[in-house]
Amino acid sequence: MSRDLSVRIGALTLKNPIIAASGCFGYGVEYAGAVDLASLGGVAVKGLFLSEREGHPPPRIVETPAGMLNAIGLQGIGVHRFVAEKLPELRRLGATTIVNICGSTLDEYCEVARVLSDHEGVGAIELNISCPNIKEGGIQFGCSLTGTYDVVNEVRKVTQLPIIPKLTPNVTDVASFARTAEEAGADAVSLVNTFLAMAIDVETRRPKLSNVLGGLSGPAIRPIAVRMVYECRQAVKLPIIGMGGIATVDDALEFIIAGATAVQVGTANFTDPFIWTRLIDGLDAYLARHRVARITDLIGAIELPSREHAWTES
Ligand SMILES: Cc1cc2nc3c(=O)[nH]c(=O)nc-3n(C[C@H](O)[C@H](O)[C@H](O)COP(=O)(O)O)c2cc1C
Repeated sequence: MSRDLSVRIGALTLKNPIIAASGCFGYGVEYAGAVDLASLGGVAVKGLFLSEREGHPPPRIVETPAGMLNAIGLQGIGVHRFVAEKLPELRRLGATTIVNICGSTLDEYCEVARVLSDHEGVGAIELNISCPNIKEGGIQFGCSLTGTYDVVNEVRKVTQLPIIPKLTPNVTDVASFARTAEEAGADAVSLVNTFLAMAIDVETRRPKLSNVLGGLSGPAIRPIAVRMVYECRQAVKLPIIGMGGIATVDDALEFIIAGATAVQVGTANFTDPFIWTRLIDGLDAYLARHRVARITDLIGAIELPSREHAWTES
């Protein structure tokens, strides 16, 4: 039986559901010597503003049990340098490129989207409205339903590319944000960005990060992220791209069975840059072992317990 790992995100077809997560895979091209970029479902590049940014001063990363805290502060080369220096190479390497974009204002999001739309080789735009590490880089939009609506709605007017707002987990009801994104014209949603968090050096009594607060990622957040994907699956028809702590093929399958069409892998790439083939081959082996023809047959295929055994709110 031939098996099909391909999935669709709006008009974009991915050859498999495994995507490198933004901020954890540079601009993709840095990994080209070690990873065949064309073999991945997609590469989500580091978040881009209109102009270059330095980010926060060090320390910007702290290890935590089963995860890491970061407060990079969206360091980046800006969209103009990206399209001139990185995009042609990504095209040449056959990568399916998802460009993660940021903005301090609605106009900035629209301008970055416009620049990207004028260049060949961009597969989709991921709207970063969820970075917890800077005050004016999107999270002010991503934590408000009207802000989320406005960013998606305005960017929708300036581009034909698929748009994927990336949702923050730092809200009470993430499904309502997915619904709002759908109403505003998004092609998919991705979730989750990092969880706002903090670590303190008790000897110096100082925060371990220069920014004081940072974003938690890695296996520590996975069960919460899976729950959020599951909740969003009930709320919207849009494809969902799930992420948060994926390090093994079973982790990726959990998100897909909870309702994700594709998944992104971030922090795990820092400890195992060769994770990609293992995940893609592992999905294929799972399909073979369970006699499933298409990965899409598994999306949201969770078998729920009967009502009397299910957890219910009291
Ligand atoms: C060092 C670092 C930088 C990140 N930069 C971005 C970014 O530029 N844009 C974005 O949307 N998410 C960014 N993220 C969030 C990741 O893309 C991902 O949503 C999060 O880390 C959860 O996935 P993981 O547990 O697999 O890392 C960053 C995460 C880390 C650890």
